[in-house]
Amino acid sequence: MNKHEYIAVSERDGLGFIELNRPKVLNAINRPMVSEIVEAFEEFDRNDNVKVIILSGKGRAFAAGADIDEMSEDGAIDLELLNQFTEWDRLAWIKKPIIGAVQGFALGGGFELALCCDMLFAAEDASFGFPEVNLGVMPGAGGTQRLTKLIGKSRAMEWLLSGDRFTAAQALQWGVINRAIAPELLMEETEKFAKKLASKPPLSIRLIKESVHKAVDYSLYEGMQYERKNFYLLFASEDQKEGMKAFVEKRKPHFKGK
Ligand code: CAA
Repeated sequence: MNKHEYIAVSERDGLGFIELNRPKVLNAINRPMVSEIVEAFEEFDRNDNVKVIILSGKGRAFAAGADIDEMSEDGAIDLELLNQFTEWDRLAWIKKPIIGAVQGFALGGGFELALCCDMLFAAEDASFGFPEVNLGVMPGAGGTQRLTKLIGKSRAMEWLLSGDRFTAAQALQWGVINRAIAPELLMEETEKFAKKLASKPPLSIRLIKESVHKAVDYSLYEGMQYERKNFYLLFASEDQKEGMKAFVEKRKPHFKGK
């Protein structure tokens, strides 16, 4: 049973699925939808059966942005007091890998949500953009920061200042997405890759993800220290013993996530 109003959540074969589910308005992201998304991610993060989380959108869009109807009458002080983006911040604390499967539009807040994923697989006909400038505003859920860290100042400027929509081919060339896939194969290919990750030792996956994220914010020195501690930490795991023993014994390892 789906207890959510704006998303659909399911789980199978070690994968957790979160699907944005307001297709009539191209999955425009309203505030209750953000709460549902964040809570669903946190539940999957606590669920031992789920190893990898896939985020996608129902219908012809991943998400066409934050819900413009909801915010059009807002004042600055309302927004300050509402402090809504702290909910988005919780996505950065999800420990399991998140793969975004993007079809159709990923615009504004929808693109920002996609940028919260660890990897992006997109349909060849997907399009990405930050149209906020055309509405007299700007991205507010990390767009200027995450995109710039990902692709550098000049390219981010072009994208953010123009408000133009870019193709999946362009996003691939600039390193925003990992794969551009025929639309009919998007979910199949994404799941295939997610299952590969799900078969790996979960603690390694967890600490690799954490370390890569630190590389974005830390100096090289700090990042190297962080990586090293995580490397040492894995030697406290049963999976490290099993992984190395299996190699020596020339057999397949059986990882337990401990
Ligand atoms: N908010 C609310 N409703 C939206 C929406 C949004 N962001 N995007 C689309 N919709 C609604 C439309 O109003 C329309 O509803 P009705 O059928 O009730 O009229 C329905 O979704 C279908 O949309 P269109 O008829 O416009 O479909 P289209 O194919 O002609 O155009 C589109 C598609 C180019 C994506 C167009 O819908 C569009 O430009 N959407 C707005 C994109 C946008 O500006 N996003 C940024 C929002 S601001 C933001 O995200 C701030 C932030 O950083 C947090």
